[in-house]
Amino acid sequence: MGRVADKIALITGGASGIGRATAELMAQEGATVVLSDLQDAAGDEAVAAITAAGGQAQYHHHDVTDEADWKKILATVLGDHGRLDILVNNAGVGGGGVPVEEIPLELWRDTMAVNLDGVFLGVKHGVAAMKELGGVIINTSSILGVVGLPLTAAYTASKGGVRLLTKAVAIECAARGLNIRVNSVHPGFIDTPMVGGAIQRGGPARREAILRSQPTGEMGQPSDIAEGILYLASDAAKFVTGSELVIDGGYLAR
Ligand SMILES: NC(=O)c1ccc[n+]([C@@H]2O[C@H](COP(=O)([O-])OP(=O)(O)OC[C@H]3O[C@@H](n4cnc5c(N)ncnc54)[C@H](O)[C@@H]3O)[C@@H](O)[C@H]2O)c1
Repeated sequence: MGRVADKIALITGGASGIGRATAELMAQEGATVVLSDLQDAAGDEAVAAITAAGGQAQYHHHDVTDEADWKKILATVLGDHGRLDILVNNAGVGGGGVPVEEIPLELWRDTMAVNLDGVFLGVKHGVAAMKELGGVIINTSSILGVVGLPLTAAYTASKGGVRLLTKAVAIECAARGLNIRVNSVHPGFIDTPMVGGAIQRGGPARREAILRSQPTGEMGQPSDIAEGILYLASDAAKFVTGSELVIDGGYLAR
């Protein structure tokens, strides 16, 4: 208990899946969690569940692709709590199943806007908010930020960008003497609404293919990733920066 006691944490995409599990775990471990998302009803429900379990949580509507929204939410967090200790850039959109020569430029740009621009804006404004007191930033990449997969060009490119953006900013913060650690987390296939959507689009064959691709034959749970993010956010990881934490049931080990 108390691995992030009294810390102020902002978790984007906090209304669902991995973001919600991370918010619940960090609240259990003593943090005040600020969840942000586009899904307001689900965000309010997550806050109600965390509060009912004795945690401290708030929800704010926040589009990670919108720089003005970033300024607004960070002003709110700093106004309410005086500091930001932990930022989890978790919001993301899936996609895939489209041959590269058929990907509309619009779909490519929409994917980049959330998965890469959104993380860049979080890092940009997060570093500014943490400069004085220090902090930790965790960016959610993917196994598909490390290796490719057929029919996922836009998603894979966006997550590869997150992986190296993380390293560039981590060493920049270190070189500038800022007490800010920056790491990426790389989930394998995790049972969340995002993967549920892909399975719905692809049918039972898609589900079978995902399970076959897993060395363990199973998908992970959102809590498996939340545990890794909690570790990176905690002082137990005080010497960890610019690093990539893979949590994938062995997917990348082959
Ligand atoms: N589930 C997996 O197998 C898996 C694997 C690797 C990486 N990831 C990554 O983990 C992260 C979380 O995904 P998840 O599986 O929990 O999916 P999810 O769909 O359950 O959650 C993603 C959340 O992000 C929010 N979001 C989307 N666009 C947004 C925007 N513009 N502004 C603010 N919020 C926005 C959604 O509303 C949703 O609540 C994503 O970055 C995803 O790419 C997931």
